[in-house]
Amino acid sequence: MTAILPHGGSLVHRVIEGAERDTLLITAHSLPSLTINNWTISDLDLIGVGAFSPLIGFMNEQDYHAVVNQMRLSDGTVWSIPITLAVEKSEADHLSMGQQVALKGEDDVIYGLLTVESIYHVDQHHEALQVFKTADPNHPGVQKLNERSSTYVGGPIQVLNRPQPERFGEFYFDPAHTREMFAENGWRTVVGFQTRNPVHRAHEYIQKTAMEIVDALFLNPLVGETKSDDVPANVRMKSYVTLLEHYYPKDRTFLGVFPAAMRYAGPREAIFHAIVRKNYGCTHFIVGRDHAGVGDYYGTYEAQDIFSNFTSDELGIEPLFFEHSFFCKTCGNMASSKTCPHPKEDHMTLSGTKVRALLREGICPPPEFTRPEVAQILIEGLNEQVTI
Ligand code: ADX
Repeated sequence: MTAILPHGGSLVHRVIEGAERDTLLITAHSLPSLTINNWTISDLDLIGVGAFSPLIGFMNEQDYHAVVNQMRLSDGTVWSIPITLAVEKSEADHLSMGQQVALKGEDDVIYGLLTVESIYHVDQHHEALQVFKTADPNHPGVQKLNERSSTYVGGPIQVLNRPQPERFGEFYFDPAHTREMFAENGWRTVVGFQTRNPVHRAHEYIQKTAMEIVDALFLNPLVGETKSDDVPANVRMKSYVTLLEHYYPKDRTFLGVFPAAMRYAGPREAIFHAIVRKNYGCTHFIVGRDHAGVGDYYGTYEAQDIFSNFTSDELGIEPLFFEHSFFCKTCGNMASSKTCPHPKEDHMTLSGTKVRALLREGICPPPEFTRPEVAQILIEGLNEQVTI
Protein backbone atom coordinates (compact mmCIF):
# COMPACT_ATOMS: atom_id res chain seq x y z
CA MET A 1 0.00 0.00 0.00
CA THR A 2 1.08 3.63 -0.45
CA ALA A 3 2.63 4.69 2.80
CA ILE A 4 3.04 8.32 1.87
CA LEU A 5 1.98 10.69 4.65
CA PRO A 6 -0.24 13.66 3.88
CA HIS A 7 1.51 17.05 3.80
CA GLY A 8 2.09 18.14 7.40
CA GLY A 9 1.68 14.58 8.70
CA SER A 10 -2.05 13.94 8.89
CA LEU A 11 -5.08 14.24 6.66
CA VAL A 12 -7.29 17.16 7.63
CA HIS A 13 -10.98 16.32 7.92
CA ARG A 14 -13.37 19.15 8.57
CA VAL A 15 -16.55 17.92 6.92
CA ILE A 16 -19.17 17.78 9.65
CA GLU A 17 -21.83 15.10 9.44
CA GLY A 18 -24.78 13.66 11.34
CA ALA A 19 -26.29 15.28 14.42
CA GLU A 20 -23.42 17.72 14.83
CA ARG A 21 -24.04 19.00 11.31
CA ASP A 22 -27.78 19.37 11.98
CA THR A 23 -27.07 21.44 15.09
CA LEU A 24 -24.44 23.58 13.37
CA LEU A 25 -26.76 24.24 10.44
CA ILE A 26 -29.45 25.52 12.80
CA THR A 27 -26.90 27.77 14.51
CA ALA A 28 -25.55 28.87 11.13
CA HIS A 29 -28.89 30.34 10.10
CA SER A 30 -28.72 32.87 12.91
CA LEU A 31 -25.08 33.83 12.29
CA PRO A 32 -23.92 36.71 10.11
CA SER A 33 -23.04 35.38 6.68
CA LEU A 34 -20.53 36.04 3.94
CA THR A 35 -21.41 35.21 0.34
CA ILE A 36 -18.78 33.12 -1.41
CA ASN A 37 -18.40 32.37 -5.12
CA ASN A 38 -17.88 28.96 -6.73
CA TRP A 39 -14.10 29.30 -6.65
CA THR A 40 -14.14 29.88 -2.87
CA ILE A 41 -16.69 27.09 -2.38
CA SER A 42 -14.28 24.71 -4.09
CA ASP A 43 -11.38 25.91 -1.90
CA LEU A 44 -13.57 25.49 1.19
CA ASP A 45 -14.51 21.96 0.20
CA LEU A 46 -10.92 20.99 -0.66
CA ILE A 47 -9.76 22.27 2.74
CA GLY A 48 -12.57 20.31 4.40
CA VAL A 49 -11.69 16.99 2.77
CA GLY A 50 -7.97 17.38 3.40
CA ALA A 51 -6.83 17.90 -0.19
CA PHE A 52 -5.14 21.07 1.07
CA SER A 53 -3.73 19.45 4.26
CA PRO A 54 -2.31 20.84 6.51
CA LEU A 55 -4.58 23.85 5.94
CA ILE A 56 -7.57 23.82 8.28
CA GLY A 57 -9.03 27.07 7.02
CA PHE A 58 -8.49 30.15 4.92
CA MET A 59 -5.05 31.62 5.57
CA ASN A 60 -4.53 34.09 8.36
CA GLU A 61 -2.28 37.11 7.90
CA GLN A 62 0.87 35.40 9.17
CA ASP A 63 0.54 32.37 6.91
CA TYR A 64 -0.45 34.55 3.96
CA HIS A 65 2.72 36.66 4.19
CA ALA A 66 4.91 33.61 4.76
CA VAL A 67 3.42 31.90 1.70
CA VAL A 68 3.59 34.96 -0.55
CA ASN A 69 7.16 35.84 0.44
CA GLN A 70 8.79 32.51 1.31
CA MET A 71 6.58 29.79 -0.17
CA ARG A 72 6.07 28.40 3.32
CA LEU A 73 3.43 28.52 6.01
CA SER A 74 4.45 30.39 9.15
CA ASP A 75 5.55 27.10 10.76
CA GLY A 76 7.96 26.46 7.87
CA THR A 77 5.88 23.85 6.00
CA VAL A 78 6.25 24.26 2.23
CA TRP A 79 3.20 25.90 0.63
CA SER A 80 3.29 27.97 -2.54
CA ILE A 81 -0.19 29.37 -3.29
CA PRO A 82 -2.23 31.63 -0.99
CA ILE A 83 -5.61 30.09 -0.16
CA THR A 84 -7.58 33.08 0.98
CA LEU A 85 -11.07 34.38 1.53
CA ALA A 86 -11.60 37.86 0.08
CA VAL A 87 -14.42 39.95 1.49
CA GLU A 88 -15.60 43.49 0.82
CA LYS A 89 -14.13 45.94 3.30
CA SER A 90 -17.65 47.02 4.32
CA GLU A 91 -18.43 43.40 5.25
CA ALA A 92 -15.14 42.99 7.12
CA ASP A 93 -15.90 46.11 9.18
CA HIS A 94 -18.78 44.22 10.78
CA LEU A 95 -16.71 41.20 11.76
CA SER A 96 -14.87 40.69 15.01
CA MET A 97 -12.17 38.27 16.10
CA GLY A 98 -13.33 34.89 17.31
CA GLN A 99 -16.76 35.35 15.77
CA GLN A 100 -18.35 32.55 13.75
CA VAL A 101 -19.74 33.37 10.32
CA ALA A 102 -21.75 31.31 7.85
CA LEU A 103 -20.26 30.92 4.36
CA LYS A 104 -23.14 31.05 1.93
CA GLY A 105 -23.15 30.37 -1.78
CA GLU A 106 -24.90 32.56 -4.32
CA ASP A 107 -27.56 29.82 -4.27
CA ASP A 108 -28.20 30.59 -0.56
CA VAL A 109 -26.83 27.21 0.55
CA ILE A 110 -24.69 27.41 3.68
CA TYR A 111 -21.54 25.56 2.66
CA GLY A 112 -19.65 26.06 5.87
CA LEU A 113 -18.63 28.02 8.91
CA LEU A 114 -15.57 30.14 9.51
CA THR A 115 -14.20 31.26 12.85
CA VAL A 116 -12.65 34.68 12.31
CA GLU A 117 -9.00 34.58 13.35
CA SER A 118 -7.58 37.34 11.23
CA ILE A 119 -8.82 40.31 9.16
CA TYR A 120 -6.18 41.92 6.99
CA HIS A 121 -5.58 44.12 3.97
CA VAL A 122 -3.08 43.04 1.37
CA ASP A 123 -1.00 44.53 -1.40
CA GLN A 124 -2.36 42.61 -4.37
CA HIS A 125 0.27 44.04 -6.71
CA HIS A 126 2.93 42.47 -4.51
CA GLU A 127 0.93 39.21 -4.31
CA ALA A 128 0.69 39.12 -8.11
CA LEU A 129 4.42 39.71 -8.59
CA GLN A 130 5.33 37.04 -6.05
CA VAL A 131 2.79 34.37 -7.01
CA PHE A 132 2.41 34.92 -10.77
CA LYS A 133 5.76 36.66 -11.39
CA THR A 134 3.85 39.38 -13.22
CA ALA A 135 1.29 42.07 -12.49
CA ASP A 136 0.13 42.11 -16.11
CA PRO A 137 -3.68 42.38 -15.96
CA ASN A 138 -3.91 40.16 -19.06
CA HIS A 139 -2.54 37.19 -17.11
CA PRO A 140 -5.68 35.18 -16.19
CA GLY A 141 -4.55 34.63 -12.60
CA VAL A 142 -3.69 38.29 -12.11
CA GLN A 143 -6.99 39.24 -13.71
CA LYS A 144 -8.87 37.11 -11.15
CA LEU A 145 -6.79 38.56 -8.32
CA ASN A 146 -7.55 42.11 -9.48
CA GLU A 147 -11.28 41.35 -9.43
CA ARG A 148 -11.15 40.39 -5.75
CA SER A 149 -11.32 42.67 -2.75
CA SER A 150 -7.93 43.24 -1.09
CA THR A 151 -9.42 42.58 2.35
CA TYR A 152 -9.00 38.99 3.45
CA VAL A 153 -10.48 37.07 6.36
CA GLY A 154 -8.66 34.05 7.74
CA GLY A 155 -9.55 31.31 10.16
CA PRO A 156 -10.47 27.64 10.54
CA ILE A 157 -13.50 26.32 8.69
CA GLN A 158 -16.05 23.54 8.95
CA VAL A 159 -17.87 22.19 5.91
CA LEU A 160 -21.62 21.68 6.30
CA ASN A 161 -22.70 21.16 2.69
CA ARG A 162 -20.67 19.82 -0.21
CA PRO A 163 -20.93 21.27 -3.74
CA GLN A 164 -22.73 18.74 -5.92
CA PRO A 165 -21.24 17.90 -9.32
CA GLU A 166 -23.73 18.13 -12.16
CA ARG A 167 -22.04 15.38 -14.16
CA PHE A 168 -19.36 12.74 -13.81
CA GLY A 169 -20.09 12.43 -10.08
CA GLU A 170 -18.62 8.91 -10.15
CA PHE A 171 -15.16 10.43 -10.66
CA TYR A 172 -15.22 12.56 -7.49
CA PHE A 173 -13.15 10.98 -4.73
CA ASP A 174 -11.93 12.60 -1.53
CA PRO A 175 -8.29 12.06 -0.54
CA ALA A 176 -9.26 9.57 2.19
CA HIS A 177 -11.07 7.55 -0.47
CA THR A 178 -8.28 7.60 -3.08
CA ARG A 179 -5.79 6.58 -0.42
CA GLU A 180 -8.02 3.65 0.49
CA MET A 181 -8.45 2.60 -3.13
CA PHE A 182 -4.72 2.82 -3.91
CA ALA A 183 -4.08 0.63 -0.87
CA GLU A 184 -6.83 -1.85 -1.80
CA ASN A 185 -5.24 -2.23 -5.23
CA GLY A 186 -1.90 -2.95 -3.60
CA TRP A 187 -0.23 0.01 -5.30
CA ARG A 188 2.88 1.07 -3.40
CA THR A 189 3.78 3.80 -5.88
CA VAL A 190 1.28 5.98 -7.74
CA VAL A 191 2.10 8.80 -10.12
CA GLY A 192 -0.28 11.76 -10.18
CA PHE A 193 -1.00 13.59 -13.41
CA GLN A 194 -2.45 17.09 -13.43
CA THR A 195 -4.14 18.32 -16.58
CA ARG A 196 -6.52 21.01 -17.72
CA ASN A 197 -6.44 19.79 -21.31
CA PRO A 198 -7.55 16.79 -23.28
CA VAL A 199 -4.89 14.08 -23.07
CA HIS A 200 -2.91 14.27 -26.29
CA ARG A 201 -0.17 11.87 -27.38
CA ALA A 202 2.57 13.88 -25.62
CA HIS A 203 0.64 13.64 -22.33
CA GLU A 204 0.05 9.95 -22.93
CA TYR A 205 3.73 9.42 -23.66
CA ILE A 206 4.95 11.01 -20.44
CA GLN A 207 2.26 9.25 -18.38
CA LYS A 208 3.17 5.86 -19.83
CA THR A 209 6.89 6.49 -19.47
CA ALA A 210 6.21 7.15 -15.78
CA MET A 211 4.00 4.05 -15.60
CA GLU A 212 7.02 1.98 -16.57
CA ILE A 213 8.54 2.72 -13.17
CA VAL A 214 5.57 3.04 -10.80
CA ASP A 215 2.65 0.76 -9.93
CA ALA A 216 -0.17 2.98 -11.19
CA LEU A 217 -1.29 6.23 -12.77
CA PHE A 218 -3.74 8.59 -11.04
CA LEU A 219 -5.14 10.68 -13.88
CA ASN A 220 -6.37 13.67 -11.92
CA PRO A 221 -7.74 16.34 -14.27
CA LEU A 222 -8.53 19.72 -12.79
CA VAL A 223 -12.23 20.42 -13.34
CA GLY A 224 -12.79 23.60 -11.34
CA GLU A 225 -12.85 27.06 -12.89
CA THR A 226 -10.59 27.46 -15.94
CA LYS A 227 -10.31 30.27 -18.45
CA SER A 228 -13.00 30.42 -21.08
CA ASP A 229 -10.85 29.25 -23.99
CA ASP A 230 -9.74 26.04 -22.22
CA VAL A 231 -11.70 22.94 -23.27
CA PRO A 232 -14.74 22.60 -20.94
CA ALA A 233 -14.38 19.97 -18.22
CA ASN A 234 -17.32 17.80 -19.29
CA VAL A 235 -15.93 17.46 -22.83
CA ARG A 236 -12.55 16.59 -21.38
CA MET A 237 -14.04 14.06 -19.00
CA LYS A 238 -15.69 12.26 -21.89
CA SER A 239 -12.38 12.20 -23.73
CA TYR A 240 -10.47 10.81 -20.72
CA VAL A 241 -12.96 8.00 -20.23
CA THR A 242 -12.72 7.01 -23.90
CA LEU A 243 -8.95 7.27 -23.99
CA LEU A 244 -8.51 5.09 -20.90
CA GLU A 245 -10.93 2.53 -22.25
CA HIS A 246 -8.98 2.13 -25.49
CA TYR A 247 -5.35 2.68 -24.58
CA TYR A 248 -4.64 2.17 -20.87
CA PRO A 249 -4.43 -0.91 -18.66
CA LYS A 250 -7.54 -0.88 -16.45
CA ASP A 251 -5.83 -2.44 -13.46
CA ARG A 252 -3.11 0.21 -13.33
CA THR A 253 -5.02 3.40 -14.08
CA PHE A 254 -7.33 5.42 -11.91
CA LEU A 255 -9.37 8.43 -13.06
CA GLY A 256 -10.55 10.92 -10.46
CA VAL A 257 -11.10 14.65 -10.73
CA PHE A 258 -9.42 17.52 -8.92
CA PRO A 259 -12.29 19.97 -8.39
CA ALA A 260 -10.09 23.03 -7.89
CA ALA A 261 -9.82 26.29 -9.79
CA MET A 262 -6.87 26.75 -12.12
CA ARG A 263 -4.57 29.56 -11.03
CA TYR A 264 -2.19 29.64 -14.04
CA ALA A 265 0.66 30.36 -11.61
CA GLY A 266 3.16 28.14 -13.48
CA PRO A 267 6.08 27.22 -11.18
CA ARG A 268 4.33 27.97 -7.89
CA GLU A 269 1.26 26.07 -9.02
CA ALA A 270 3.42 23.05 -9.87
CA ILE A 271 4.53 22.87 -6.24
CA PHE A 272 0.93 23.28 -5.08
CA HIS A 273 -0.28 20.61 -7.53
CA ALA A 274 2.38 18.19 -6.30
CA ILE A 275 1.55 18.71 -2.62
CA VAL A 276 -2.17 18.23 -3.24
CA ARG A 277 -1.54 14.98 -5.13
CA LYS A 278 0.55 13.77 -2.20
CA ASN A 279 -2.54 14.37 -0.05
CA TYR A 280 -4.53 12.20 -2.47
CA GLY A 281 -1.95 9.45 -1.85
CA CYS A 282 0.40 9.80 -4.83
CA THR A 283 4.08 9.08 -4.31
CA HIS A 284 5.20 10.66 -7.60
CA PHE A 285 4.02 13.63 -9.65
CA ILE A 286 4.60 14.49 -13.29
CA VAL A 287 5.87 17.93 -14.21
CA GLY A 288 6.41 18.40 -17.92
CA ARG A 289 6.93 21.46 -20.06
CA ASP A 290 5.46 24.77 -18.86
CA HIS A 291 3.34 23.11 -16.17
CA ALA A 292 0.29 25.27 -15.28
CA GLY A 293 1.67 27.96 -17.53
CA VAL A 294 -0.13 30.36 -19.78
CA GLY A 295 1.13 32.50 -22.68
CA ASP A 296 4.84 33.29 -22.41
CA TYR A 297 4.88 34.23 -18.75
CA TYR A 298 7.09 31.33 -17.62
CA GLY A 299 10.16 29.61 -18.98
CA THR A 300 9.59 26.12 -20.41
CA TYR A 301 11.23 24.38 -17.44
CA GLU A 302 10.73 26.96 -14.68
CA ALA A 303 8.03 24.79 -13.10
CA GLN A 304 10.66 22.05 -12.76
CA ASP A 305 13.49 24.30 -11.57
CA ILE A 306 11.43 25.63 -8.66
CA PHE A 307 11.51 22.18 -7.01
CA SER A 308 15.23 22.66 -6.28
CA ASN A 309 14.25 25.22 -3.60
CA PHE A 310 13.03 22.40 -1.38
CA THR A 311 14.47 19.19 -0.01
CA SER A 312 12.82 15.91 -0.93
CA ASP A 313 11.90 15.45 2.75
CA GLU A 314 10.11 18.79 2.81
CA LEU A 315 8.09 17.94 -0.27
CA GLY A 316 7.55 14.25 0.45
CA ILE A 317 6.36 13.54 -3.08
CA GLU A 318 8.84 12.80 -5.84
CA PRO A 319 8.51 14.98 -8.95
CA LEU A 320 9.13 13.26 -12.27
CA PHE A 321 10.35 15.80 -14.81
CA PHE A 322 9.76 15.41 -18.53
CA GLU A 323 11.12 17.42 -21.42
CA HIS A 324 8.97 18.72 -24.22
CA SER A 325 7.67 15.60 -26.00
CA PHE A 326 6.48 15.12 -29.56
CA PHE A 327 6.08 12.57 -32.32
CA CYS A 328 9.25 12.35 -34.45
CA LYS A 329 8.56 11.32 -38.03
CA THR A 330 12.07 9.95 -38.51
CA CYS A 331 12.15 7.99 -35.24
CA GLY A 332 8.60 6.88 -35.99
CA ASN A 333 7.63 7.26 -32.35
CA MET A 334 7.05 9.65 -29.48
CA ALA A 335 10.22 11.18 -28.14
CA SER A 336 11.79 14.20 -26.51
CA SER A 337 15.08 16.00 -27.05
CA LYS A 338 16.54 13.55 -24.53
CA THR A 339 15.86 10.61 -26.84
CA CYS A 340 15.61 11.99 -30.38
CA PRO A 341 18.59 13.26 -32.41
CA HIS A 342 16.57 14.66 -35.33
CA PRO A 343 15.95 18.30 -36.23
CA LYS A 344 12.77 20.21 -35.32
CA GLU A 345 11.40 19.85 -38.86
CA ASP A 346 10.99 16.12 -38.21
CA HIS A 347 8.88 16.75 -35.12
CA MET A 348 5.14 17.01 -35.17
CA THR A 349 4.12 19.82 -32.84
CA LEU A 350 0.87 21.75 -33.01
CA SER A 351 -0.02 24.83 -31.00
CA GLY A 352 -3.19 24.80 -28.92
CA THR A 353 -4.61 27.53 -31.18
CA LYS A 354 -3.96 25.45 -34.30
CA VAL A 355 -5.54 22.36 -32.74
CA ARG A 356 -8.64 24.29 -31.67
CA ALA A 357 -8.96 25.75 -35.19
CA LEU A 358 -8.81 22.25 -36.73
CA LEU A 359 -11.34 20.84 -34.28
CA ARG A 360 -13.76 23.72 -34.80
CA GLU A 361 -13.67 22.96 -38.53
CA GLY A 362 -14.44 19.33 -37.73
CA ILE A 363 -10.98 18.17 -38.79
CA CYS A 364 -9.16 15.53 -36.70
CA PRO A 365 -5.57 16.50 -35.90
CA PRO A 366 -3.10 13.81 -37.04
CA PRO A 367 -3.22 10.57 -34.99
CA GLU A 368 0.41 11.17 -34.04
CA PHE A 369 -0.85 14.21 -32.16
CA THR A 370 -4.20 13.03 -30.77
CA ARG A 371 -5.91 9.67 -30.66
CA PRO A 372 -8.79 9.70 -33.19
CA GLU A 373 -11.31 8.68 -30.49
CA VAL A 374 -10.30 11.73 -28.46
CA ALA A 375 -10.37 14.04 -31.49
CA GLN A 376 -13.90 12.89 -32.31
CA ILE A 377 -15.17 13.77 -28.83
CA LEU A 378 -13.46 17.14 -28.93
CA ILE A 379 -14.98 17.94 -32.31
CA GLU A 380 -18.45 17.03 -31.10
CA GLY A 381 -17.99 18.80 -27.76
CA LEU A 382 -16.52 22.01 -29.08
CA ASN A 383 -19.01 22.31 -31.87
CA GLU A 384 -21.94 21.78 -29.52
CA GLN A 385 -20.32 24.56 -27.45
CA VAL A 386 -20.88 22.51 -24.33
CA THR A 387 -20.10 24.44 -21.20
CA ILE A 388 -18.93 23.26 -17.78
S1 ADX B 1 -1.50 22.18 -17.09
O1 ADX B 1 -1.84 23.60 -17.00
O2 ADX B 1 -2.45 21.33 -16.42
O3 ADX B 1 -0.10 21.95 -16.69
P1 ADX B 1 -1.62 20.54 -19.47
O4 ADX B 1 -2.89 19.87 -19.20
O5 ADX B 1 -1.34 20.86 -20.91
O6 ADX B 1 -1.57 21.92 -18.67
O7 ADX B 1 -0.38 19.74 -18.95
C1 ADX B 1 -0.45 18.66 -18.11
C2 ADX B 1 0.96 18.16 -17.80
O8 ADX B 1 1.58 17.70 -19.01
C3 ADX B 1 1.89 19.21 -17.23
O9 ADX B 1 2.80 18.60 -16.33
C4 ADX B 1 2.65 19.70 -18.46
O10 ADX B 1 3.90 20.21 -18.11
C5 ADX B 1 2.79 18.41 -19.26
N1 ADX B 1 2.88 18.61 -20.74
C6 ADX B 1 1.93 19.11 -21.56
N2 ADX B 1 2.34 19.05 -22.85
C7 ADX B 1 3.59 18.50 -22.85
C8 ADX B 1 4.56 18.16 -23.86
N3 ADX B 1 4.32 18.34 -25.17
N4 ADX B 1 5.71 17.61 -23.48
C9 ADX B 1 5.98 17.38 -22.17
N5 ADX B 1 5.13 17.67 -21.16
C10 ADX B 1 3.93 18.22 -21.48
